[in-house]
Amino acid sequence: MSLATEIEKRRTFGIISHPDSGKTTLTEKLLLFGGAIQMAGAVKARKASRHATSDWMKIEQERGISVASSVMKFNYRLDNNDYEINLLDTPGHQDFSEDTYRVLTAVDSAMMVIDSGKGVEAQTEKLMGVCRMRNTPIVTFINKMDRDGLEPLDILADIEDKLQIECVPMSWPIGMGKLFKGVYNLHKQELNLFTPSQDTAHSDNVHIEDLDDPRLDELLGAQADELREHIELLSGASNPLDMAQFLNGGQTPVFFGSAINNFGVKELLDAFVELAPPPGPREAAERVVEPEETDFSAFAFKIQANMDPAHRDRIAFFRICSGKFEKGMSVRHHRIGKDVKLANATVFMAQDRAHVDEAYAGDIIGIHNHGTIRIGDTFTSREPLKFTGIPNFAPEMFRRVRLKDPMRRKQLHKGLMQLAEEGAVQVFKTVLSGDYLLGAVGVLQFDVAVARLKAEYNVDADYVGTDFKLARWISCDNAAKLKEFERLFSANLAHDSEEQLAYLAPDAWKLNYTEEQWPEISFHKTRESL
Ligand code: G4P
Repeated sequence: MSLATEIEKRRTFGIISHPDSGKTTLTEKLLLFGGAIQMAGAVKARKASRHATSDWMKIEQERGISVASSVMKFNYRLDNNDYEINLLDTPGHQDFSEDTYRVLTAVDSAMMVIDSGKGVEAQTEKLMGVCRMRNTPIVTFINKMDRDGLEPLDILADIEDKLQIECVPMSWPIGMGKLFKGVYNLHKQELNLFTPSQDTAHSDNVHIEDLDDPRLDELLGAQADELREHIELLSGASNPLDMAQFLNGGQTPVFFGSAINNFGVKELLDAFVELAPPPGPREAAERVVEPEETDFSAFAFKIQANMDPAHRDRIAFFRICSGKFEKGMSVRHHRIGKDVKLANATVFMAQDRAHVDEAYAGDIIGIHNHGTIRIGDTFTSREPLKFTGIPNFAPEMFRRVRLKDPMRRKQLHKGLMQLAEEGAVQVFKTVLSGDYLLGAVGVLQFDVAVARLKAEYNVDADYVGTDFKLARWISCDNAAKLKEFERLFSANLAHDSEEQLAYLAPDAWKLNYTEEQWPEISFHKTRESL
């Protein structure tokens, strides 16, 4: 098969949502449609064990779980077209972390799941912010229509208002909660009637082009007029789907359904594979790389410590950007200027890992390594390239590290640097006191860090509180101004693990105020690896 054909059939995406909106349930149904799992329950069981946190054994177990569910690959066939789908996990509960953000730098599109009872929630807003950095196309699923929730029009207004993306309803719900009758598929002009059912894909579809058709009244009773009214309202208020707008993240097609009842999921998946783009060009510092180029190129976007702490093995997740991966091939690791043999690449099937012999742009492969690979590293068959757009994200919470045995300071430093390279936590050394501060996006990473310092570096450490809540990397073209800033704000400055200077603020007000007072200084929310 040609390279172009392989690329054309691939869809690499992640789900953005707030915890409990139904991501796990939807993932499971998508995998069922792809034949990747045979029965409901497998993904949910994993999530249940994932909820358990805190002690070391549990964290270990969890690491294994999150490696296994990091990428779920499955096939899907629609109208004689075969698709290969890579669904990248975006951890969202206690395991919400910087990795969740970074996964979104490796996808070509995203599915957004909104709980119809809640509208847009905080974590979805944050993840949407990351999608916006690369104008990632978003397909929206409004879930839990079988429950009483917000009015559909209000949900759309909420999305448009909070996420600054125009909604284009592809289907329209008829009632909700106990009165939920199904949806009217606007573009197929079809009525999909709802029957609650947890395991089969079942809905009765009736083709009704003309909304004045009396069959609508027979099927929906008094709710037929309500549907007519809504659709009339909609036709005046919303624009048709514009592919260019969708592809640059300006518009999102919206579907309504109920993941747990398997309702609306097939329609969502069918539209998704047709609308969502295959792997596209990727920007490198030197030039733009096209997926059809025959030379192999990839970047590492996630590093996961392996299960066995005795080996200090790590799995680096590569997103392939061009060419063809072949088992055992040699590629150049540009940051360290060495050739490495990609012998045991792993592809992550929905349930198990399998060894891969070949892979293409859009695919994710896992490579074992002993700590030489960093997030953002580029690998190519020959040309020196550095892919961009795989940043560090400013931490949203901080802890000050307290070392119990001062004699182990060197080991502490080594352990912290390794953790920083894996991208799970960020390490800052304060300019004034030389203390180590850990910064993270999700709180679990702090527990993992102390547990790993103990197990892998024999360092006993714990945390004490700190007043800092926000960090921004700073830069300034005017050396004198920067010096003055450094002098005045020395108590708020720290260097990260790559010696980049960051300003730490106790709250958003103080950060805004400082930004306003110092217009010459640039405050960055993300930082690209060196
Ligand atoms: P998450 O991964 O986004 O956190 O959400 P998850 O799928 O775990 O769903 C969160 C809760 O919402 C679960 O209930 C799940 O069963 C429920 N849910 C998901 N989709 C729907 C839906 O379409 N309608 C309704 N009514 N509920 C839905 P739970 O009680 O927390 O867990 P469980 O005991 O059911 O597993």
